[in-house]
Amino acid sequence: MSEFQDVLKSRRTVHRFADRPIEEAIVNQALEAANQAPCHKHTHPWKFYLLGEKTRQTLVPTITHLAAAKSEQKKSPDPEHDSKRAIGKVMNPPLLVAVTNKQSPQDPFRQKEDYAASVCALHNMVLSLWGNGVSAKWSTGGLTRHPETYENLGIDPKKEEIIGFVKAGYADALPVVNKPTIEDTARHLP
Ligand SMILES: Cc1cc2nc3c(=O)[nH]c(=O)nc-3n(C[C@H](O)[C@H](O)[C@H](O)COP(=O)(O)O)c2cc1C
Repeated sequence: MSEFQDVLKSRRTVHRFADRPIEEAIVNQALEAANQAPCHKHTHPWKFYLLGEKTRQTLVPTITHLAAAKSEQKKSPDPEHDSKRAIGKVMNPPLLVAVTNKQSPQDPFRQKEDYAASVCALHNMVLSLWGNGVSAKWSTGGLTRHPETYENLGIDPKKEEIIGFVKAGYADALPVVNKPTIEDTARHLP
């Protein structure tokens, strides 16, 4: 159990990954861990789309447009550099997964609970990866919300919402992040 606590406490979001593939067994273990997430009404509203190179390539025009628009807002824009960097962020991670949650427009409370369950599933996946030494990052950048992304991944936005991309791989270094203390966040009520 203390090992599990170590995994929880040492996990960090990582932005750059080594050029080294993740073993298939580790990926499958993470997907299995995701499916163990708590889920009210057992709706299992999450789906994981593992994006191969061909699918990632279809996202490049959208990435380029988004990067150009962002670049324009800078004081000294360098659209070529920014676009190359943005493309690398999608093409380079050894694992890129789009995570979706089921849409339930007729029942907002169901959708809220389902979103919570899908977040648990996503984080189960991230923790399982980290337990096997693989770092990850949850991203909710503009690309994850763009209509062209839904089209390119074959995801019907009326049925599923992309709640983020998970990028994963081996990392050389982990960032240091300050976390709240128990005193900051816990209140013992009589
Ligand atoms: C819902 C959600 C969305 C996030 N989206 C992004 C993102 O788009 N880009 C990014 O660099 N990090 C993103 N992150 C990672 C956070 O920046 C990160 O969790 C935070 O800096 C704390 O670091 P830690 O994960 O190492 O504790 C996201 C995290 C969450 C929970």
